[in-house]
Amino acid sequence: MKIKASYFILPLALGALSKNIALAQTISIETNKNALVLLADKKHDLNTVYFGPKLADSKEYANIDAVYGKDKDYSGQMASAYTPAGSRNLLEPAIQVIHADGNYSLDLQYVSNKVEHISDDITLTSILLKDPAYNFEVTLFYKAYFKDDVIEQWSNIRHSEKGNVTLQKFASANLYLKAPSFWLTQYHGDWAKEMRPEETQITHGIKTLDTKLGTRANLFQPSVFMVSLDKPATEDDGTVMYGGLEWSGNFRTDLELDPENNLRIISGINNYASPYQLKPNEDFVTPAFWYTLSRNGKGEASRNVQHWARNYKLLDGKGSRLTLLNNWESTYFDFDETKLAALLKDTKKLGVDLFLLDDGWFGNKYPRNGDHTALGDWEETKTKLPNGIASLVKGAQDNGVKFGIWIEPEMVSPKSELYEKHPDWVIKQPKRDEYYYRNQLVLDLSNPAVQDFVYGIVDNLFTKNPALAYIKWDCNAVIYNAYSAHLKNQSQFYVDYVRGLYKVLERIRTKYPKVPMMLCSGGGGRVDYAALQYFTEFWPSDNTDPLERIFIQWEYSYFYPALSSSNHVTDWSKLPIKFRTDVAMMGKLGFDIVISKLGESDMQFVQGAVKTFNDIKAVVWQGDQYRLLNPRENSVASIAYVNEAKTTGIMFNYLVNYRYGEGSSMQIKLKGLDAGKQYKVKEINLYPGTKSGINESKSYTGDFLMKVGINPKVSSGRTSVILQIDAQ
Ligand code: DGJ
Repeated sequence: MKIKASYFILPLALGALSKNIALAQTISIETNKNALVLLADKKHDLNTVYFGPKLADSKEYANIDAVYGKDKDYSGQMASAYTPAGSRNLLEPAIQVIHADGNYSLDLQYVSNKVEHISDDITLTSILLKDPAYNFEVTLFYKAYFKDDVIEQWSNIRHSEKGNVTLQKFASANLYLKAPSFWLTQYHGDWAKEMRPEETQITHGIKTLDTKLGTRANLFQPSVFMVSLDKPATEDDGTVMYGGLEWSGNFRTDLELDPENNLRIISGINNYASPYQLKPNEDFVTPAFWYTLSRNGKGEASRNVQHWARNYKLLDGKGSRLTLLNNWESTYFDFDETKLAALLKDTKKLGVDLFLLDDGWFGNKYPRNGDHTALGDWEETKTKLPNGIASLVKGAQDNGVKFGIWIEPEMVSPKSELYEKHPDWVIKQPKRDEYYYRNQLVLDLSNPAVQDFVYGIVDNLFTKNPALAYIKWDCNAVIYNAYSAHLKNQSQFYVDYVRGLYKVLERIRTKYPKVPMMLCSGGGGRVDYAALQYFTEFWPSDNTDPLERIFIQWEYSYFYPALSSSNHVTDWSKLPIKFRTDVAMMGKLGFDIVISKLGESDMQFVQGAVKTFNDIKAVVWQGDQYRLLNPRENSVASIAYVNEAKTTGIMFNYLVNYRYGEGSSMQIKLKGLDAGKQYKVKEINLYPGTKSGINESKSYTGDFLMKVGINPKVSSGRTSVILQIDAQ
């Protein structure tokens, strides 16, 4: 790839940085609709002067100066593009350090900037800042994805002082927004309660979103959030920014409404218990913080993020995915070769691509017959699987399906041979009692020997079974009693754990670039765009009750594409199999039910549903998503996916309110169609023996369907309706 670069350097050496040099430098980072404008002022402070709609003439950015109220900015640093602590700053810093000589002050002054044109769609702007009093520098990076209006921002921190510098805080990004008011949408949750939204107006002071859980870091709170400007954004109206940190461990985002009523957003790795000793001439590269800004509401923002993710972030984001039958909820730990042989036959009968063997296949000294034992002992349990995984892979092939397997490689059971052999590989405090989450402990991935071991688990499986087609990578425990027997400096533990994890995943992906892997974390405890560079999909929640899933998947979909969402049909709910399957079809369809116990009609239905899904999956996975009716505000939830050519739309409609007489009383307006095209509407995925309530002989213009709409006729007798809209 040809990379073009342009440079701007202030014409003075660092040693000569002096005040009042009559030269200001405007740096604008533009995307399709937006511009982020920074100004290196005469004093060499780098401030944000604007983040909003792009101007027609980019020369005019130089005239913006500060549109942010700065009358009472005593420090001149409220709008700092990367706020240093300990000199003039009065607010939350982005970076805080202790220099090698013990001094706590930092000033960062603009030195130069550079723009690289990575492709027609991507530019990378880097800005070098230096401290005039210390040999300390930070380079800010802004990677702008033009079409999708997304920016990824990170920093590289470096020094050449005489000794280590302690990084007390080391954010990835420091944004500055201007609006009359700000509305934060954040998420909270727990096991089986993922992605519960809360929206509040941001008041003065600091609101922090963070986690200190180490692994499974999103259990209570993910790093993704939205900020609406001026008023709460709706699906198609209002200005809204989305953001999230690309980091699978502790994160921290501070949203500070400053005394001038502007919003400062500072996001990065959580500095909790993590002062980092940075050696001279070592680079500390922060993870990226991604963000997007839409002036047409949440829908446009999410379509941009989903498109960006499929094109640039999610592993194999433009590729296909495997449908599957999983045995977790149908057998739990209780299976053997005979049961699995029957399940392989069921997989074929169902018509899905792959059988996924879940937890319980390993451990001999302490067999994995429950969740108290064997994590770490990744050898087939001889009593359950005397012929090993290899015979199962072969059995799958004989049945014309693929085979996948569950692992939880970062974990160790106290009752395991691994624990007995390598107690020093286990994260635990030497002088304290062990404390367990799901009866297990976490391995110390900051230790290269442990990294080798974890890599070896995956590598051995593939080496022994080259036809293995899928991995489900689970992660059920948080980190208690954080301590590494390997690290000399405990304060690097949380950061080095995640770096160790990425090193392992990097090695796996170097050798096995595209084998599909599901990112699971006892439900949705871990999903972010750093992890998704290594995984093809994630597990949103163990809660597979379809009614719950409508809400959970709805919220995830603001940030992640349907292609990445593993949705399984299970027995969590008594709702009809059609309802359960239809909900799972809004993503990557899988089943975790006892196929052999399905009645004749149910069986006929699921077999048909798999075929239907194969017909429509390209639209769901690669199309644009439109949220039509919000289940939080209506008795019916309605979501549509439309392909790029606008020739096919798939509209999913579900009853979410089971009170008497509830249903779709009116037409639902489609979105994203071509107004000038003629479309026909048909109902698909009907349960055997039922008739569609839709008149399929009529045709409508896109204009009609988007202005007047169509009634899917959802009612207590038709709780789930999928419509296919095809251009003629
Ligand atoms: C938690 C996962 O979310 C489940 O799907 C299942 O794989 C269990 N772990 C197995 O222990």
